[in-house]
Amino acid sequence: MAAHPGPDEREHALWFVNYVMMPIPGIPSGCWLARWDLEGAVKRWKLGGMTPFDSIHDVKVTQDYVVITDLPFVVEPQTFMGGKRRRAAQDFTRMWIVRKADLERARPEDEVPVKELTIPYASGHIAIDYRNPNGELTVYLQHIGAADLTVSFERGETDARHGRMIDPNFEGMISLGLQPPITGRYRIKAETGELLEKQHCWDKEFWGGILWSQNITRDDSVDHAQNLWYGALGWDPDMIPSTMWRLYKDYPNAVVPMDALPTHYIPGKLGRIDLETMKYAEWWEYPTGTFPHPPTFVPRKNAKHDTDGYVVVVVHQGAPKEVQIFDAANLSRGPLARATAPTFNPPLLLHSCYYAPRRGPRNSRYAVDPYRDAWGALRGFSPSRMGSLLKAAKGMATMARRPEKALSIARTEA
Ligand SMILES: [Fe+2]
Repeated sequence: MAAHPGPDEREHALWFVNYVMMPIPGIPSGCWLARWDLEGAVKRWKLGGMTPFDSIHDVKVTQDYVVITDLPFVVEPQTFMGGKRRRAAQDFTRMWIVRKADLERARPEDEVPVKELTIPYASGHIAIDYRNPNGELTVYLQHIGAADLTVSFERGETDARHGRMIDPNFEGMISLGLQPPITGRYRIKAETGELLEKQHCWDKEFWGGILWSQNITRDDSVDHAQNLWYGALGWDPDMIPSTMWRLYKDYPNAVVPMDALPTHYIPGKLGRIDLETMKYAEWWEYPTGTFPHPPTFVPRKNAKHDTDGYVVVVVHQGAPKEVQIFDAANLSRGPLARATAPTFNPPLLLHSCYYAPRRGPRNSRYAVDPYRDAWGALRGFSPSRMGSLLKAAKGMATMARRPEKALSIARTEA
């Protein structure tokens, strides 16, 4: 399942993707787009014409299209047995565009066609304009240059610059990318997949971008994204794992040359990208060893425009940590309010979002009866379901031990 479902507030639906791309014996492979109207059954369509991908992370929706992008996630069999990675992750984004009208027309047995395009630089998350005038999409990609989600600090890891052992307290932490984050704005003709225009935003002082937040509480902001608030960890030249360096030292699409990476510490920041100018409009810089994560936009009461609100962050530092609140239109002024407690020490958080309280009556009858829910879970343990789960587990074990044999079984079953 893709990590992020795409909310479609205008159609009162949630879109998501589920897929099996790795050929595992006993499991049908493919990619399905699903829509749930917040009650009733989930509708699913098998998508056709997609080039194989590592994983799908994000799904976004416009007036007439659903847009899906991939995320590199390299799995190499030898790593299951403690072996080192050998292959760098892809450095491009595959994007698929699905026409909503094609889904309405499709019969259950049909594969729904996608329009596929490839864009330089891999990506994590995406943002999109809901409006698609003249069939033109505006998509914002959070590029992750020379980054690899499957390389983490392992016990005994050394730093690439001095060959010194990295503090074992960092064990398990995912390595940061070896390039500053690039945010790309792309205008695309949805019917042909033609890239009409592109613009990139990055800065040599802004490193270690993890997540951004946008204002999704206003119609005009959903129709046309205007700002992104981006939290960044910064850059420490002594925190490059040797494994990362071995895989990415020849990274071909560097905006900062790999032989000229910063040799000094660059602080963590909270920044705002103006999506009109595609530049960092402003940022707030944190002291050494401190960074904000994740950023969450919260609108002001009776807000009048896209930046009319606050950005809430959790500041990670030596305990106790802090919650800080910024004026979304004036980050460089510093936090308006700070809060902490002696025992406030949350782990590194992941995603966050603000949702306005519901106005008016609830417009869905969806409710989960706890007894039916428990019974449904128990029924999941039927002999046939257990049989297929065991078959899949056996297939994955074979994949780890003897990948060639597993692939040939999967091909035969296909
Ligand atoms: Fe995510």
